[in-house]
Amino acid sequence: MWKSQNLFHKLCIHTSAAILKKAPQNLKGKRPAEQRWIVRQLRDPFVKAAHVQNYRCRSAFKLLEIDDKYNILRPGFSVVDCGAAPGAWSQVAVKRVNATGENPEYPRGAVVGVDLLHIAPLDGAHFLSNQDIASPATHAELQRILPGGLADVILSDMAPNASGFREMDHERLVSMCLSLLGLADVVLKPGGCLVCKYWDGGLARKLHQGLTEVFKEVKIVKPQASRKESAELFFLARLFKKR
Ligand SMILES: C[S@@+](CC[C@H](N)C(=O)[O-])C[C@H]1O[C@@H](n2cnc3c(N)ncnc32)[C@H](O)[C@@H]1O
Repeated sequence: MWKSQNLFHKLCIHTSAAILKKAPQNLKGKRPAEQRWIVRQLRDPFVKAAHVQNYRCRSAFKLLEIDDKYNILRPGFSVVDCGAAPGAWSQVAVKRVNATGENPEYPRGAVVGVDLLHIAPLDGAHFLSNQDIASPATHAELQRILPGGLADVILSDMAPNASGFREMDHERLVSMCLSLLGLADVVLKPGGCLVCKYWDGGLARKLHQGLTEVFKEVKIVKPQASRKESAELFFLARLFKKR
């Protein structure tokens, strides 16, 4: 059964740091699913690396890998990070687009993160906490905040609260990804790029088709930081054709 989003957030920043210091014998009293999760975390090199490198979550390494390979985040770019909490992807984006102006030789970019949950502040990022990315009010606010009202890149690592029913969760995530096409219409620059996470399943083809209608190039990507046993995949869609 897939763990719920709230459990993910509770454990993501806080417990991952804490459990790295604890020995597995401290598992007494925990439910079997929790024990399995903690043991997996303890053995996961990306969890350790996230802790050492001060990332809020191991998911940072997925975006780092995608960007190292495809160079989607460039200094001066404006980025919308959908489903941004706890903020690891935004940490990566802030650095790569130079959103703090840390490197004065390069143009300064912008990162706007949106999540249904609260996102702790991050230097260089503007967060819209407790907001639904699918809502027209959020789209309007993004237009107001983004430089020139437009983004070069939309990132989505969004995931619904897992029901535990794989097919149902897959369908919900695909429909969330499809709703990003509406966001792209409003804020994405022509030629812009979209990265979205999905869980593989029957409707993946429908999502692929929806993306190929509005992007010239669509690839499926599985970063090494994405666990092999997970159905998680990413679409990398480039060269947005503004409708
Ligand atoms: C896997 S987490 C994202 C982790 C994040 N990329 C990071 O690196 O820290 C998925 C997030 O998607 C958010 N989410 C789900 N549906 C959403 C929606 N409709 N609008 C905004 N955020 C949403 C969840 O609240 C959750 O925080």
